[in-house]
Amino acid sequence: MIVITGATGNVGRPLVELLASAGQKVRALTRDPASARLPSGVEAARTQDLPLDGATSLFLNPAVVWGGAEEMISKATDGGVRRIVLLSSAAALDDDPGNMLATRHRDLEKAIEDAGVEWVFTRPGEFDANALGWAEKLRAGEPVREPFPGSRSAPIHEKDIAAVAARALLDDDLVGTRPLLTGPETITHPDQVRMIGEAIGRPTRFEEITPEEAREEMLRLPYMRPGLVDVLLRLRAEAVDAPEEISPEVERITGRPPRAFAEWAADHADDFR
Ligand SMILES: NC(=O)c1ccc[n+]([C@@H]2O[C@H](COP(=O)([O-])OP(=O)(O)OC[C@H]3O[C@@H](n4cnc5c(N)ncnc54)[C@H](OP(=O)(O)O)[C@@H]3O)[C@@H](O)[C@H]2O)c1
Repeated sequence: MIVITGATGNVGRPLVELLASAGQKVRALTRDPASARLPSGVEAARTQDLPLDGATSLFLNPAVVWGGAEEMISKATDGGVRRIVLLSSAAALDDDPGNMLATRHRDLEKAIEDAGVEWVFTRPGEFDANALGWAEKLRAGEPVREPFPGSRSAPIHEKDIAAVAARALLDDDLVGTRPLLTGPETITHPDQVRMIGEAIGRPTRFEEITPEEAREEMLRLPYMRPGLVDVLLRLRAEAVDAPEEISPEVERITGRPPRAFAEWAADHADDFR
C-alpha cells in the first residue's frame, strides 16, 4: 500500500493517477475525501487522521505538514513504512540561512534520513503550476506585474515531478538519491505569460514593476513573510545573469524528456479563460 499525501494537489493528483493505472494499491490523503474526485479503485482517507496502517511506502508533500512532520514520520516508521519519497525542493541547495524554504526542506530531509527508512528526496525547481497564481489577473484581462523581466528559470510540469516520484516509489535504484528536477528550457516570466496567451487564443500582458512595488504586493499575500519576500526577490534578481541550469534527471529517470511550458499552458488553458 502506497500512501500519497497532498493527493488532490498539483503533484499528488497525477501521481495517484499514474500509480492507480499501474495497478498499485493507493491510499490518497485529503482533508475532504467527499469532494476529492479520485480515480476508481483508489482509497480516499482523511489527512487529519494520519491513516498509515498497512502502508509500506509514503509520498510526503510538505504542503500538508507545514506545521511539523515529526508525528507523520514517526507514525509511518512505527507502522511499518519502509520508504518515504519526499517532495523536497531545489531550494534545499541554497545555503542562505535566511531562506526558510531551504531550511524547511533540508530539515525535513534530515528528519527522514534520521528515521532510518529508505528515502528519495525529489528536488524540483520552480513549478509550471506557479503560473496559476496569475490566473485571476489574466482571466480579467489584466497584466501580470513583476520585477526582473529578464530573470530566467527552467520551470517543471507537475506530471514530470509525478513521473519521477512514481519511479522513486516503485523502483529501488533511486533510493538514497536527491534528484534535481527541472523543465527542458530556460524561459522568463514574460515568455510564460505570452505562451499562456497563445494557449488561450488571446493576447496576455506582462508589465514590469520595481522590486519595491513587488515587495508591497507580495506582502499582501496571507502566507508571505518579509524575510521570505526578500529571499524570493533576491533569487529572481540573481537569475537575470545566472539562470537556473537545466537538469538531465527527468529524462534519465523517466526515459522521456521533460514537458515544455507550452504543453503545460495548453493543459491548463481553461484555468486562464
Ligand atoms: N511551487 C514550487 O515552485 C515548488 C518548488 C519546489 C518544491 N515545492 C514543494 O512542493 C510543495 C507543493 O506541492 P503541490 O503544488 O503539489 O501542493 P499543493 O497542490 O499546493 O497542495 C497539495 C494538497 O495539499 C493539501 N493541503 C494544502 N494545504 C494544506 C494544509 N495546510 N494542511 C493539510 N493539507 C493541505 C490540499 O489537498 P486537500 O485540500 O484535498 O486536503 C492540496 O491539494 C511545496 O509545499 C514545496 O514543498 C514547490
